[in-house]
Amino acid sequence: MTPASQPSLTAILSALPEEQQGLLEQLHGAQKHTVAGRDFWLGKLHDQPVALGLSRIGKVSATLTAAVLIGHFGASRIVFTGVAGGLAAGVKVGDVVVAHDFIQHDLDASPLFPRYEVPLYGRSRFPCDPALTALLTLAAGRALASSSHAARPLLAGAQVHCGLIASGDRFVSSADESSRLQAALEGAGHSALAVEMEGAAVAQVCADYGVAFAAMRTISDCADDTAHIDFPTFVTAVASRYAQRIMDELLRSLPAPT
Ligand code: ADE
Repeated sequence: MTPASQPSLTAILSALPEEQQGLLEQLHGAQKHTVAGRDFWLGKLHDQPVALGLSRIGKVSATLTAAVLIGHFGASRIVFTGVAGGLAAGVKVGDVVVAHDFIQHDLDASPLFPRYEVPLYGRSRFPCDPALTALLTLAAGRALASSSHAARPLLAGAQVHCGLIASGDRFVSSADESSRLQAALEGAGHSALAVEMEGAAVAQVCADYGVAFAAMRTISDCADDTAHIDFPTFVTAVASRYAQRIMDELLRSLPAPT
């Protein structure tokens, strides 16, 4: 069977190898394919055909990876697992934010188009697939609830939030920048829970192709002056565990592949 003809292929996108590692270790019948200089892993997780890909960092890289997953491998849904900086009050390190929709916080074609609007789409925000997002939210809740008695627990007291995530080609690493970014978004009527660097690009690609998209981000830092210190430690020590647990729960809850 060629990759493009695989039925019900779920693509799982991670930003960094450390975030993908746990999923790769569990993959049955793993086969590596290299397209556009990127490695993709095809195989099965919980009897579901999956493709694992790395978005790398930033919107351009993420766009290309998503387009390959859909155009070359025929993915019928994409789920993003990664980390983000917390923006909203009450979104703490170790919490999980499931995206309801995405906005590009660094997109500004004004005065030709309103700030944040994606030119020629007539919209600023790209929604995630409601059904897949509902399953992902439930999966995240189950993973966090069961974590206290697991061999390697997730962070105690972690919560699941669902809302808007802002993406842009900047690592937000000062409290000043984070407040400015939040205030500008709020001023335009957009209240974001978290900030990262890829999701809005993948959401737009999925909307263009009509492919279901859902995304979860574990909060690794508070997008403030210590963000660059918290980030690498968190990604290596914690994020991969979150991704693995939550994807386990999600894949078990998907309809049987056709
Ligand atoms: N991903 C994780 N933390 C982030 C931050 N502070 N800014 C942008 N992307 C991030």
